[in-house]
Amino acid sequence: MRKLTEKKIVLASHNAGKLREIGALLAPFGIEVVSAGDLGLAEPAETEDTFAGNARIKAHFAARASGLPALSDDSGLQVDALLGDPGVYSADWAETPTGRDFPMAMEKVWTALQAANASEPRSGRFCCTLCLAWPDGHDEIFAGTVEGRMVWPPRGSQGFGYDPMFVPQGHDISFGEMDPVNKSDMSHRADAFAKFVTACLES
Ligand code: IMP
Repeated sequence: MRKLTEKKIVLASHNAGKLREIGALLAPFGIEVVSAGDLGLAEPAETEDTFAGNARIKAHFAARASGLPALSDDSGLQVDALLGDPGVYSADWAETPTGRDFPMAMEKVWTALQAANASEPRSGRFCCTLCLAWPDGHDEIFAGTVEGRMVWPPRGSQGFGYDPMFVPQGHDISFGEMDPVNKSDMSHRADAFAKFVTACLES
């Protein structure tokens, strides 16, 4: 496992919600973080059908283009009654000709759950795979999850993406209703990030 000794990295994401959450998680480590957007890097096509595959594409692209280590996040919502959908296609379910529409994407999930006659607890999980890639082509991969259930109608206006329809296990409020600090204690991203810290940042 390679340690991250560099003091500056690129966050290989253009997603404002992910940038906010990963930026907050990295803040205590004294690492300067620039985003792919700040550097004017393009967004590579996510052509793989696994979180790890797509995380690798994004991190290697940003590392090669910037000459800095790059950390990417590929994540999404897996719903058991939908056989894991929307999964790696979570962002695609929100696409419209005028941009991403997550109220519409959540409605698609709920409509599909009704079509599948899914009964409570309508279980699923958020999954996150982080990839740290170096310009020389080496990478390290870390996966995290948070289990929970789907609820309707969506609740709360915090967070992003599918947060308002996801209630994490052991709680009765959605990620959309939860204080971001509390979401960061238990999220799929925090789970993967803790593994990254142990492997790459701690001596
Ligand atoms: P991608 O990783 O860029 O393919 O996008 C993953 C998509 O999954 C995001 O655009 C969100 O819709 C969804 N997603 C990932 N993490 C979260 C989260 O923490 N809360 C809500 N939605 C998420």
